[in-house]
Amino acid sequence: MERSVAELVGGTDVEALTAEEVVETVLERLHPGVALACSFQKEESVLLDMLLEREPRARVFALDTHVLFPETYAVWRQLEQRYGIRIEVFEGPSLGRQAAIHGEALWERNPDLCCSIRKIGPLGAALSGLHGWITGVRRDQSSSRTATPKLGWDDRHELWKASPLADWTDDDVWAYIRERDLPVNPLHERGYASIGCTHCTTPGTGREGRWVGSGKTECGLHA
Ligand code: ADX
Repeated sequence: MERSVAELVGGTDVEALTAEEVVETVLERLHPGVALACSFQKEESVLLDMLLEREPRARVFALDTHVLFPETYAVWRQLEQRYGIRIEVFEGPSLGRQAAIHGEALWERNPDLCCSIRKIGPLGAALSGLHGWITGVRRDQSSSRTATPKLGWDDRHELWKASPLADWTDDDVWAYIRERDLPVNPLHERGYASIGCTHCTTPGTGREGRWVGSGKTECGLHA
């Protein structure tokens, strides 16, 4: 059932708030029942910093598909060290188990099923018991994301969903990262604007480098 943001924030105009204020609002109302979904892209470098500065015990989870880039695993460790935190892990089946059930290289034969068992299933587990989640989705990432609210009711998963960087540009993200000298996934500097799993991500601007040639544009976490 659709719920109005006013239930959570009263008369506050959330769209007029800065990213930092959205993070504060969500923490005030929902912590510890809210968690950041962390993909270790540049948006999460920013959000982790904003979140942990305000609440050192803020919850953060990652969906480990087992086919993330080595650079992604490396920045994961770097961020945990920098902030002294442990990121909660939700994972799909191991590569061996997936191969035993579905055959080798499922991503080539059925990318939708691959995303479903590696990301969508684990996301359901990550969100169960939470009252809200925070994502790094931005409106300028793709045409399907242009209407992303800074805070809204996520009808599919039945909890609040905040995207504090919804109205940020690439330049805004980089300016914040440079100003604070934050760890950042090095693949961005090698032409990867968007970073998912190894087999389905190539360099490209926006989300062009995701699932190239397959006609697929979203894995289903946000669509
Ligand atoms: S996706 O739907 O194609 O995966 P994208 O890579 O643009 O989305 O990331 C958008 C947001 O989804 C990220 O900022 C993050 O909040 C969340 N997200 C994506 N992948 C993961 C992951 N593996 N673990 C946790 N959160 C993720």
